[in-house]
Amino acid sequence: SYYTEPYRPQFHFSPQQNWMNDPNGLLYFNGTYHLFYQYNPNGTTWGFMSWGHAISTDLVHWQHLSIALECESDSNGNVLQMFFSGSAVVDVDNTSGFAVPVGKDRHGHVIYSQPMIAIYTSNYPTAHNQSNGVVIRAGQQSQSIAYSNDNGLTWTQYEGNPVIESPPPQYADQYQQFRDPFVFWHQPSSKWIMVASLAMKQILLIYSSDNLKNWTLESQFGPANARFGQWECPSIFPLYLDGNMQEEKWVLLMGINPGGVITASGSQYIVGSFNGTTFVADPSNVYDPTQIPAGSTVFQDFEEISSTFEEIGWNSTGDFAGLGPQNASTVQVWNIEGCLGIGVLTTYLFGDIATGTITSPTFNITNSYISFLIAGGYYPYNPSTAGTPDDNQVSFSLVVGGQIVYSETGTDTEDLVWRNWNVAGYIGQEAYLLVTDVNTGPFAHLHVDEIIFCNTPKNEANWFDFGPDLYAAATYNGLSVPDRTVIGWMNNWGYGQNIPTSPWRSAMSVPRNLALKTINSVVRLVQQPVPSLSSLYTSTLYSRWFTTLPSGETTINVPSPYNTQMKLSVTFKRGSGTKFGVILRSNATDTQETVIGYDFLGQSVFVDRFKAGDNSFVNWQPNPFPGRYVATLPIPSSNTITLNIFLDWSSVEVFDSTGQVAITSQIFPLDASAMVKLFSVGGTTKDLAVTVNGIKSSWT
Ligand code: FRU
Repeated sequence: SYYTEPYRPQFHFSPQQNWMNDPNGLLYFNGTYHLFYQYNPNGTTWGFMSWGHAISTDLVHWQHLSIALECESDSNGNVLQMFFSGSAVVDVDNTSGFAVPVGKDRHGHVIYSQPMIAIYTSNYPTAHNQSNGVVIRAGQQSQSIAYSNDNGLTWTQYEGNPVIESPPPQYADQYQQFRDPFVFWHQPSSKWIMVASLAMKQILLIYSSDNLKNWTLESQFGPANARFGQWECPSIFPLYLDGNMQEEKWVLLMGINPGGVITASGSQYIVGSFNGTTFVADPSNVYDPTQIPAGSTVFQDFEEISSTFEEIGWNSTGDFAGLGPQNASTVQVWNIEGCLGIGVLTTYLFGDIATGTITSPTFNITNSYISFLIAGGYYPYNPSTAGTPDDNQVSFSLVVGGQIVYSETGTDTEDLVWRNWNVAGYIGQEAYLLVTDVNTGPFAHLHVDEIIFCNTPKNEANWFDFGPDLYAAATYNGLSVPDRTVIGWMNNWGYGQNIPTSPWRSAMSVPRNLALKTINSVVRLVQQPVPSLSSLYTSTLYSRWFTTLPSGETTINVPSPYNTQMKLSVTFKRGSGTKFGVILRSNATDTQETVIGYDFLGQSVFVDRFKAGDNSFVNWQPNPFPGRYVATLPIPSSNTITLNIFLDWSSVEVFDSTGQVAITSQIFPLDASAMVKLFSVGGTTKDLAVTVNGIKSSWT
């Protein structure tokens, strides 16, 4: 089968049809790479979540198989069980007892199968009583297992499911937000280990088991670093530091949504150690939310405002007494801590409890980044749960010249949260912040504690990928430590259900190999596309050396069809210019273009999809799809930078040769926009080598 619909990825996995999200159950077994994935058998948006299934022998060519675990409904059409994200293992020693006899050896001894076990979240939308006597509450999320003795083709659910019914007692109220078990065999302790997420708490729970059925809670981790949203799809795995087998370290990798590096979904990692029960983060991998970048301008007076907050009469009996949705027409007083640069310490903002919007006073943008620190959360008024965040979502927008120029939405938080917005284009202009309650019900409590202007974004996390379209990254079980391989969902919850593809929606990233490298004395997770991808490369289609690339644009000729599916590599040094890069999917007038480049002043790689093509599929404002994505990459002592760019029909993935930088971004250009250009800004770029290989379709 050869897929050629508009935007159909040629060398990325996508389902034949329908909706896909997270990769699940990544498992290498008997020469086969299994890829299960979150799948809606009935449509092109999220729903009826099941596990789809595909296999490969090389991580490049995939064969679609039938659904492995299919969403279950009762006779009235109520959904009883969805199969949410999880992992898979091979139970080599039959600890689970799920193996079956498959024959006899030459001594007459029975040979048993090695069962594959899937460990997943049972998401139960409807309250019901299971036939095994377990009482299920509406919206409950529990951890369950299923096994297969035919290499993952057919599955049987364990009759004792769920194997972990609820979170531990101290988190009992989180029973609807407890999911995404990642399980692996931990050789040193001879136990199965699971990490699962209390998504809204940004807490990961670590369990152990002898048989995959009975689990013991060992420890918990989090919140840490990025926490402007839910933690989902966690995993934990070992890697060798700098290739040294004596120096094993452990990596926690997780999705965060919303609150990713740029908008909505993102992925962060934390390097540390794991002793079979507890994960301890390396201090160098934990960011202090109170640390402020050098050279910042800070506006804050938290104490002052807090005391005023107490005085304005909201809380005669309890924290939020007197407020509430009951008074829908009442205009309420809100405060934003920090004065936003207008030199006044106390600012009250008037929020309309019916529309749930507040605006800050205007302020002048002074530096390239604006960061703001939110604390206290946004709490809907409810006397019985005052002080407890609910499912409210609040969006923060920056308004310049009457236009929203940047906006982001986050869930409740009780903690310190930073957002960083690049406002370099607006220095010297007046702006204000607009805060909107996007869900039903008003919010009754909000602090923006500090507004900080800085010249580099405040680093709050180790981002795994600096683009908008890499989420729910999961790694393969069943491979050796140096072969650890990750696949991410190449989409974003911020707009993913609207992308203009049919009859399928969503693709996976190219599989990537992972390693740990010490860079500037910090341990970093680095990544590169798997070597087997090169089996799809054509011979070199374009290769040229420029001792000096002049200022301006230089068109290069890459023959069709490979001008839309290629690997383009550039190695270069700084000349007299300030930026160098490549323009892909461009037309002659540059009204359509995807711009990938290096900024020598900011020492960073960027991908700009502001003009990359269609973004009209987002029909709300502000549109989160257009954007520019930046990853810091210090100029090395060799002064030479190499970028490898992988362009497919609706995506671009950029890696630098050290593996520190990955930027993954979807694009939806016109077919006719297929020119390839080099550019140098403000002067020359030196010693430039450009090499282009086409990438053949993996579906032929
Ligand atoms: C992440 C996620 C998971 C959940 C799955 C449901 O994208 O929200 O937490 O298991 O998707 O499809």
